[in-house]
Amino acid sequence: VAPSPTDPVLDDGVVSLRAWEESDAAAIAAACDDPEIARWLDMIPSPYTVDDARIYIEQTKSGRAEGRTSPFAITDAETGAVLGAVDVHWIDPEQKVAEIGYWAASQARGRGVVTRAVRLLAGWVLGELGFERLQLRADTLNEPSCRVAERAGFTRDGTLRSVRYNARQSRRIDFAVYSLLRGEQV
Ligand SMILES: CC(C)(COP(=O)(O)OP(=O)(O)OC[C@H]1O[C@@H](n2cnc3c(N)ncnc32)[C@H](O)[C@@H]1OP(=O)(O)O)[C@@H](O)C(=O)NCCC(=O)NCCS
Repeated sequence: VAPSPTDPVLDDGVVSLRAWEESDAAAIAAACDDPEIARWLDMIPSPYTVDDARIYIEQTKSGRAEGRTSPFAITDAETGAVLGAVDVHWIDPEQKVAEIGYWAASQARGRGVVTRAVRLLAGWVLGELGFERLQLRADTLNEPSCRVAERAGFTRDGTLRSVRYNARQSRRIDFAVYSLLRGEQV
């Protein structure tokens, strides 16, 4: 198997993206043990422990080695503090289609840091790497997530109705599908 593309330097002076390191386990656990993340990202363990974070960090390494994902920590460009996460899933490299996902630590929300991270990643995937389509899926009721997509220039393609059962919300959810095409980066 081919590994994921080599990690780029992605920094806009406010946020800086880098691979996860073992020493991030406590910061990941603190951020992910959060009701808002548990509610929307129902595949993430809840409660979330440092051991869960260690497992996750290992998975980010195998995901890179196997060419499935490129997961990044979103850090404060000045202090280095972990603010959130953004990852690219190389869902169809042959067709040049990739997908992103993200979360922010509660104390880092409301400052547009995830939007900045998405813009940086889009520039890499659709620019340098020449992918044609970057997509993301968000619960149609997850307004902050949909706003991040829109602010980063994504267009809503449509809705995947009743696509998943979210046990934490005891309902079947609809995913809004958003895409950004090569040349549309803002
Ligand atoms: C989605 C998430 C990453 C956005 O974090 P963020 O970058 O800090 O985003 P903000 O808090 O700045 O909010 C983004 C937009 O949503 C708006 N927003 C925030 N809370 C809102 C709410 N409850 N209802 C409607 N809009 C809301 C903000 O006003 C902002 O819009 P603006 O840019 O037009 O002002 C963050 O909320 C999060 O981690 N949520 C939990 C995990 C998650 O849902 N991940 C995405 C799964 S698809």
